[in-house]
Amino acid sequence: MEPVRIGVLGCADIARRRILPAMTACPDVDVVAVASRREAAASETSERFGCLPVHGYAALLARPDIDAVYVPLPTALHARWTRAALDAGKHVLAEKPLTTEHALTQELTALARNTGLVLMENVMFVHHSQHAAVRRLVADGAIGELRSLHAAFAVPRLPAHDIRHRPELGGGALLDTGVYPLRAAVHHLGADLRVVGATLTSTAGHVVDTAGTALLTTRKGVAAHLTFGIDHAYRSAYEIWGSEGRITVDRAFTPPADHEPAIRLERRSGTETVRLPPDDQVLRTIEAFAGAVRTGSDAAGVSVRQAVLLDEVRRRAVRY
Ligand SMILES: NC(=O)c1ccc[n+]([C@@H]2O[C@H](COP(=O)([O-])OP(=O)(O)OC[C@H]3O[C@@H](n4cnc5c(N)ncnc54)[C@H](OP(=O)(O)O)[C@@H]3O)[C@@H](O)[C@H]2O)c1
Repeated sequence: MEPVRIGVLGCADIARRRILPAMTACPDVDVVAVASRREAAASETSERFGCLPVHGYAALLARPDIDAVYVPLPTALHARWTRAALDAGKHVLAEKPLTTEHALTQELTALARNTGLVLMENVMFVHHSQHAAVRRLVADGAIGELRSLHAAFAVPRLPAHDIRHRPELGGGALLDTGVYPLRAAVHHLGADLRVVGATLTSTAGHVVDTAGTALLTTRKGVAAHLTFGIDHAYRSAYEIWGSEGRITVDRAFTPPADHEPAIRLERRSGTETVRLPPDDQVLRTIEAFAGAVRTGSDAAGVSVRQAVLLDEVRRRAVRY
């Protein structure tokens, strides 16, 4: 089968560090070109990854030799360039969160559907096999009836110039890190969650929210406690708690490809460690995107639900 021909919009850190190395190693896709606002950056990046440099995003979208684009731009620019890419007839893999608000995510997913193009949000952790193993344990009754989920993703403070500190670019902890625990809750508890309460805090010297919490619940009262932040000691974990036991996943959201997952299963009978083989969630995501392009499947439904809940957290949040 022919590989999906991909172009990249912007020489972003995430593109250069994680996505382009995986794309160039994946036989399902062929990276044709990388575009940048900066000519020198396009040349340097394209040389490193063996593809063509393009000056300007519109010039890349005009190329007939590209089937799909990857959009790793600052969050507030995802909507504009995703719309432009879909209008140019390209499938889109866009960074998380897909846009800054539900209405835009809804509009773009409808546009993709109506034009027969794939739009997928680059939430990679859900493609790691460790979460399928957790789902199997829960479905097999390993922890009894579900009572609650606790999920946290927070990272240390970034340099002052980082896009995450700029509100006009869609910065802030909720959009940058809140997406992960929120998506973990939807992944394990289902889409019927609603937000009961939330906080968003701007720590001293910041204009964007740098810390947040949210409490959600399913219709049956299974709770999700979420914590996120961009001015914290690092944490990337979740725990699912049931009537008979508890499952804990560390290195939940951004494990490297060689990480050997060790899921902790605590029950009255004792604590077991479920060891799993390493998995490369970046590669799995690219394979999933290429697969969706080939089969024309809808890859954005859950992103719309996630966007509704992100809006709800923002609307309900008590601010500090
Ligand atoms: N899925 C994940 O695991 C993951 C991890 C990290 C980040 N992300 C997401 O990826 C996106 C990019 O994050 P990043 O950390 O890679 O950002 P970054 O290094 O700052 O890159 C953003 C790129 O956007 C382009 N750009 C266009 N207009 C810009 C503007 N006005 N200001 C700054 N840059 C502009 C630049 O490319 P040119 O100058 O080359 O045109 C820049 O290199 C964000 O949405 C973030 O949430 C996802």
